Amino acid sequence: MLEKINIYIEEINAFVPADANQLEEFRIKFLGRKGIMGDLFEEMKTLTPEQKRETGKWMNELKNAAEGKVSHYKDLFENNSAEASAHSDLSRPSQYFSLGARHPISIVRNLIIRIFSDIGFVISEGPEIEDDWHNFGALNFPPDHPARDMQDTFFIEKGEKEMALRTHTSSVQVRVMENSRPPIRTISPGRVYRNEAISARAHCIFHQVEGLYIDKDVSFADLKQTLLYFARELFGAETKIRLRPSYFPFTEPSAEMDISCNICGGSGCNICKHSGWVEILGCGMVDPQVLENNHINSKEFTGFAFGMGIERITMLKYQVNDLRVFFENDVRFLEQFKSLGL
Ligand code: DAH
Repeated sequence: MLEKINIYIEEINAFVPADANQLEEFRIKFLGRKGIMGDLFEEMKTLTPEQKRETGKWMNELKNAAEGKVSHYKDLFENNSAEASAHSDLSRPSQYFSLGARHPISIVRNLIIRIFSDIGFVISEGPEIEDDWHNFGALNFPPDHPARDMQDTFFIEKGEKEMALRTHTSSVQVRVMENSRPPIRTISPGRVYRNEAISARAHCIFHQVEGLYIDKDVSFADLKQTLLYFARELFGAETKIRLRPSYFPFTEPSAEMDISCNICGGSGCNICKHSGWVEILGCGMVDPQVLENNHINSKEFTGFAFGMGIERITMLKYQVNDLRVFFENDVRFLEQFKSLGL
C-alpha cells in the first residue's frame, strides 16, 4: 500500500493543469467523495494498528500534496497571474515539495548510539586505514595465526609500511585503550572492509559498532545484562537473548549472542531458519593479554567487549532480505524509511 501511495504522490508532484477544468478533474480524482483518498482510507481499515500508524503518515503526505496543488493552481487561475496571487494572499500554502530521507544504515546506527549513550557509553572513532598492530597484533592475532583467515583483508601499501583497510571496528578498542585509562565505556561505529564476493548476504564494505567497557570488577554478568538491555531497547521488551560459546582471539571467554526471532516471536520462520533464534553479535571478556598489550593492568581491571554488524541488524529489524540494496541508493528503497526520521 505504501508503494501505491508513493506512486500517487509522484503523480501529484508531476501534475501541471492547463486550465481550471483540468484542475477540478484532478481535485475530484484525488480528493472527491469517491476519490482516491477515500478508497485508500477504506483500504486502511484492513491494516494492523502498527501498519495504520505508518500508512497514516504517508496518507497525510498524500493529502497535503494534493491539497497544496489544488490551492496553488486555484489561486493562479483565479488571479490570472502567479504574482498577483502571491501578493494578495501571503498565508496560502506553498507548493508541495518532498524532502530527502535518512539512509536506513544511518537510522539504525543512530538508534544504537542512542541506546548505549543512555547508559553512559561515549562515541569513539578510529581510522579506516589501519596498521597490522591495531587491526590484529594488539588484539592477540599473532602473525600466521589461523584466526586472521576469518577476515579476508584488503592490504594496501603506504610508504614502507604495509597497511590494511580495517576488517573490524575492534581496532578502535586498541586506539581507545592506548589513549585513555579506565574506567572506559565506549562504542565505536564505523565502516569496515573485507575481501568478500558481493552477494545478498556479504559485501566488501559494511558497518559495525564496537563496544568496550573496562573498569574494576566488570563481570560476565555485566556483559549479559548490558546486552539484554540493548536487545530489548532495539527489538522490543519481549525480546529474549541467548549466549553461545564461541571464539575470538581478543576475548576469553567469547560468545555469540542470539535474540529470539523478532519476526515470528520464536515459533519458527524462514528468517530464523525455523530455530526461533537469530545471531546478532559477538562478545566476550577482554582477554587479559589484550589489556596488557595496551598497558592496562589486568590484575586491577577487567572488561567486556562486543561487536555487531549494522547491516545485519537493519535487515532483521526492517525485514530486508538482500544486503546489496543498502549500497545501491535506489530512492524507492530509501524512501520507505522516510517516516522514521532520526
Ligand atoms: N570483531 C568481530 C568481528 O568482526 C566482532 C567482535 C566479536 C567484536 C567479539 C568484539 C567481540 O568486540 O568481543 O567479527
